[in-house]
Amino acid sequence: MNVIVAVDQNWAIGKGGDQLIYLSEDLKRFKALTMGHPVILGRKTLATFPGGRPLKGRRNLILSRDPSFSPEGGEVYPGVEELLAQAPEDSFVIGGASVYQALLSRCDIAYVTKIQREFPADCWFPNLDEDPAWEQTEESEPLEQDGVVYTYVTYRRR
Ligand SMILES: NC(=O)c1ccc[n+]([C@@H]2O[C@H](COP(=O)([O-])OP(=O)(O)OC[C@H]3O[C@@H](n4cnc5c(N)ncnc54)[C@H](OP(=O)(O)O)[C@@H]3O)[C@@H](O)[C@H]2O)c1
Repeated sequence: MNVIVAVDQNWAIGKGGDQLIYLSEDLKRFKALTMGHPVILGRKTLATFPGGRPLKGRRNLILSRDPSFSPEGGEVYPGVEELLAQAPEDSFVIGGASVYQALLSRCDIAYVTKIQREFPADCWFPNLDEDPAWEQTEESEPLEQDGVVYTYVTYRRR
């Protein structure tokens, strides 16, 4: 499986239930990479999408322990094992923090947008630079939007 995430310099990913920053080119890249593939996400990340609706053009496999939660267009799973039994190998884990934590060990490729800023935050992604299980295999040239510099970095499981 794949994982895709945008992190700041401290590997922070969110605050107050929302993203740290929205970069339009990064959102386009997210769409291009995930389109046509299943996406795996937590109930709280789904709530951050427009209208709280699942992403179009992709199977949405959503983790939630709430048996009454059944968003139209999404598949809800009560636990990781139930979800993994139905998740194809080309799935993308798209967050949030608890779902990254639960499924990173099942992923082989990580698409990380590294934002060269430090934001106030309350949740983080594991630092892959400090994890010997992962190696960086690609890094884009620095890109910039509204003075915010970022790069696309790919990691693979060793
Ligand atoms: N920077 C990025 O790339 C990025 C990407 C995505 C999200 N984010 C950020 O991440 C933050 C959200 O992360 P989060 O950890 O608070 O929420 P989350 O992972 O999106 O969702 C958490 C919810 O998912 C369900 N869940 C999680 N693990 C489960 C398990 N093992 N079994 C069953 N259900 C499970 C539970 O839902 P129930 O409560 O319904 O049981 C839990 O409350 C936000 O700030 C968001 O903006 C950042």
